[in-house]
Amino acid sequence: MDELRSARRGQPALPPLAPDTYARGHAAFEALSDQRALIGRHLSARLAGRGAGPVSLLSVGCGDGSLDAPQAAALADVSPARPVRYVGVDPYEPSTAAFAAAMAALGRDNLTAEVHTATFAEAPVGGAFDVVTFVHSMYYVPDVAATLRAAHDLLLPRGELLVLSAPRGALNLLVDVLAPPVDEHRQWFSDDIAAGVAAAGATPEETVTLEGRLSLDGAGDEVLDFAVQARLTPELRPLVRAYLEAVSVACPTSGVLHVPHPVDVHCLRRAA
Ligand SMILES: C[S@@+](CC[C@H](N)C(=O)[O-])C[C@H]1O[C@@H](n2cnc3c(N)ncnc32)[C@H](O)[C@@H]1O
Repeated sequence: MDELRSARRGQPALPPLAPDTYARGHAAFEALSDQRALIGRHLSARLAGRGAGPVSLLSVGCGDGSLDAPQAAALADVSPARPVRYVGVDPYEPSTAAFAAAMAALGRDNLTAEVHTATFAEAPVGGAFDVVTFVHSMYYVPDVAATLRAAHDLLLPRGELLVLSAPRGALNLLVDVLAPPVDEHRQWFSDDIAAGVAAAGATPEETVTLEGRLSLDGAGDEVLDFAVQARLTPELRPLVRAYLEAVSVACPTSGVLHVPHPVDVHCLRRAA
């Protein structure tokens, strides 16, 4: 990290990832991690705990819907059948098109899916929801506390707002050092969410951490660029790779090396 810091000292910000490069890098990055499977199981268990009856979910920063479509199917497939409303919001049109296609491909008659190509602040989302999720998307909003308040206002009584964000661990130190600002702010990590919750005057439930693992096997340039959230130069890439190898740890059972890839689940619940 010292070498990276000194290589960057006095240099202009690195270029941000273009939306298409970001989406491709995200898919390649997640393919090397078990974190998405952990998130999928965690969300399924929480949603299953909500019981019978109509259910509505808003996914903010839904991306291509690869995480949401299985959740929508599971919500739709309970017996007795019930109406499910599933809404996605994302500013990147190819992702919202993929979200719409993934929901349509489920072919569930009791599922109503909608998607808005917009930031959360600009999305014309109507109605209220049992669950609102931000899975790895709160990093990019202009103001965490204001976003939490607006999302909380969309909850039905006993509704849950779930914000899944990375802690500022070894992996995301890279973002702090290398990523350019997003709309003039740095990316918000899990401690910023906790501070935003306090600033919003809300009382959170206990935060749960899902301990994902990222493998570096076959990690190409797009994975490294996604990891640092910037377009790296050829000179910086070996330093980033060496840093990731240095922070890798061995699995106690298999001995296989991985980079810790945790995510915190923050939960705010609306009163009955
Ligand atoms: C790391 S991806 C996560 C996608 C998806 N939730 C998943 O886990 O597969 C972050 C997503 O947030 C979206 N995003 C960025 N800024 C946003 C904003 N202000 N409001 C809503 N979504 C945003 C991006 O376009 C991107 O699809």
